[in-house]
Amino acid sequence: PEFISVSNLADVLGVRQAEFIDHLEEIGFEGVIHSHVLDAETAGLIAEEYNFEPIFETSEQDLVAAPEPEDKSHLPQRPPVVTIMGHVDHGKTTLLDWLRKSSVAASEHGGITQHIGAFSVVMPSGKSITFLDTPGHAAFLDMRRRGADLTDIVVLVVAADDSVKPQTIEAIKHAKQANVPMIVAINKMDKDNVNPEKVKQDLARHSVDVEDYGGDVQAIPVSGKTGLGMLDLEEAIVTLSELLDHRADVEGNAEGWVVEATTKKAGRVATVLVKRGTVRAGDILVAGTTWTRIKTLKNEAGTVIEEATPGMPVEIDGWREQPEAGSEVLQAPSEQRAKDVVDYRLERSDIKKLGQDTAAINVSRRETL
Ligand code: GTP
Ligand code: MG
Repeated sequence: PEFISVSNLADVLGVRQAEFIDHLEEIGFEGVIHSHVLDAETAGLIAEEYNFEPIFETSEQDLVAAPEPEDKSHLPQRPPVVTIMGHVDHGKTTLLDWLRKSSVAASEHGGITQHIGAFSVVMPSGKSITFLDTPGHAAFLDMRRRGADLTDIVVLVVAADDSVKPQTIEAIKHAKQANVPMIVAINKMDKDNVNPEKVKQDLARHSVDVEDYGGDVQAIPVSGKTGLGMLDLEEAIVTLSELLDHRADVEGNAEGWVVEATTKKAGRVATVLVKRGTVRAGDILVAGTTWTRIKTLKNEAGTVIEEATPGMPVEIDGWREQPEAGSEVLQAPSEQRAKDVVDYRLERSDIKKLGQDTAAINVSRRETL
């Protein structure tokens, strides 16, 4: 969507700001200030009020995601996207390592996860689950602020010897705001002097409806070190994801989100989580103000793959500029179209920036213009 601030729109229409705001209130907008951001449709209606004829170039020049179908029951199932969150050092990467039977935690610089990692894990049932590992700091929240709604389920990791800590609370807030169901993994149960009951109490105090406290959020005692309880955790994830029954179209233009982006020897690569459609080599994708004609697709193990379908994380090369984590990825029909879209977006980037910096408000219209 395109945005314009109230003050910029006043300038465009050649009206004094104070007068403009007064008029907006007269015709039914409430609590308007000059920095409020209006979407294109609202701005167009207002422009008509001033006898301007708005031209919506956006839909033609820009690429936009197709609307979500209301009924998805006929579409194929996709793997659920599970985000591992929790306080720094509570064992997020270690748990994930156990689930994927590898060891990322040991190889990390200083043992701290720096970027969001995306991994596909095939469960014993044969179903695959996509996991996102988040750093202990606020990067994930930052991504959410930019609009990337990536997660179907949050696994909240809480160390049994440390209980609820600031980033645990942040993660709870995030999951609640995004309305994402949660499973709690009470980790480090192999240690002495652990107190899982205290963890549950603390969680209940922070409005997590854990099972033993009358709620339905499962809290599973585990150890990423010894594997204790890990089968129960896997089962809980699989059961919940089957219940949620996520489906997506594998046809049509591909869409996704940039999870992370780096520059390697092979050039600029980005891990993209496919949301819809099927991504293949040769496809042209736009992400924010950069684009690529894909040379190779790789899974997280670095193996070249033929195609990536919804719910799969995939490493995509060939970006003209490095895309930003959190950007929406959309397929373009041609290189020329991709270039045009990028040019268009660059031209509009001042407006875009405004849309990001200022919280867009839903201006409520009391009556029809
Ligand atoms: P950040 O990515 O930095 O936020 O940390 P993290 O949550 O990914 O934690 P990580 O998996 O790197 O583990 C932190 C430390 O706790 C490491 O030294 C792990 O070996 C240790 N650890 C993780 N899980 C367990 C566990 O179940 N038991 C014990 N004893 N130690 C654990
Ligand atoms: Mg980590």
